[in-house]
Amino acid sequence: MSRTVLVATEKPFAKAAVDGIKKVLDDAGYTLSLLENYTDTADLLAAVKTPDAVIIRSDKVTADVIAAAENMKIVVRAGAGFDNVDCDAALKADVVVMNTPGQNSNAVAELAFGMMLNLARNKYTGKAGTELRGKTIGIHAYGNVGKFVAIIAKGFGMTVKAFDPFVEKSAIEAAGVEVVESVETLYSGCDYVSLHIPANDKTKKSIDYELLSSMKEGAALINTARKEVIDEDGLLKAMTEREDLRYGSDLTPDCLDALNAAAGDRVFVTAKKMGAQTAEANINAGIAAAQQIVAFFEKGDTTFKVN
Ligand code: 3PG
Repeated sequence: MSRTVLVATEKPFAKAAVDGIKKVLDDAGYTLSLLENYTDTADLLAAVKTPDAVIIRSDKVTADVIAAAENMKIVVRAGAGFDNVDCDAALKADVVVMNTPGQNSNAVAELAFGMMLNLARNKYTGKAGTELRGKTIGIHAYGNVGKFVAIIAKGFGMTVKAFDPFVEKSAIEAAGVEVVESVETLYSGCDYVSLHIPANDKTKKSIDYELLSSMKEGAALINTARKEVIDEDGLLKAMTEREDLRYGSDLTPDCLDALNAAAGDRVFVTAKKMGAQTAEANINAGIAAAQQIVAFFEKGDTTFKVN
């Protein structure tokens, strides 16, 4: 049966990824529909009306979007975090939600190091900085991105620690990473902390003043995860009080202006969320999403279903 798949990306994939998605869909006899660079939710609401499936990135799939998608049976978040999808509304409407775990992880990990280097070199202003070699990095959540961070950190000659109560200690240790038993120990014992927790009811605002102000002298927090996990009042307070702390983020904080006013030379924030914005990550995640949709319709495959 022929199906139509909408790719709805406010932040578009690289062209090679769209070409790859189209090829997967063509081979299955499906039709690609494309909505890129939209700025108005009304455009998304109109575009989802008839397609059988939708591929998104950080695009918000709210209850309204699900209600407007009259034929949608499946929505695939081409990426890891699915906090942008109302999974309960999808479940009620009998819509399967999937992600594509691991497909863009290396890109995110590489960006974390880009931000570490940027801060270590004082934002390339010419002022003498520091090196990553010999420093300790703490990986907060040892999932798909965390694993790549550990591999790259070793290449830089860093000591690598991780905290993740959901991953077997032996699996982390097998990668030559020291397991830390508490989040407090991780934050107080590392020169860099790289954040990779999802945003959910348990993690929102969990990176608070207490944790941030416990960080080592000159330490940096690198956030390629989600802005919601940061308690921004606590971040602002800690960065104001501690003139040595540094913050690198791929997510624009709501308090960016105040943060820049208080600690601009120690803060680096990307202009747009860039972690997964590489051709390779777009191709991997986009094609995986298209393949998952075809497998779902043709074989009833629900691997990677998250709702
Ligand atoms: C993810 O959860 O996969 C990353 O945050 C990437 O998000 P993006 O597709 O919006 O760049």
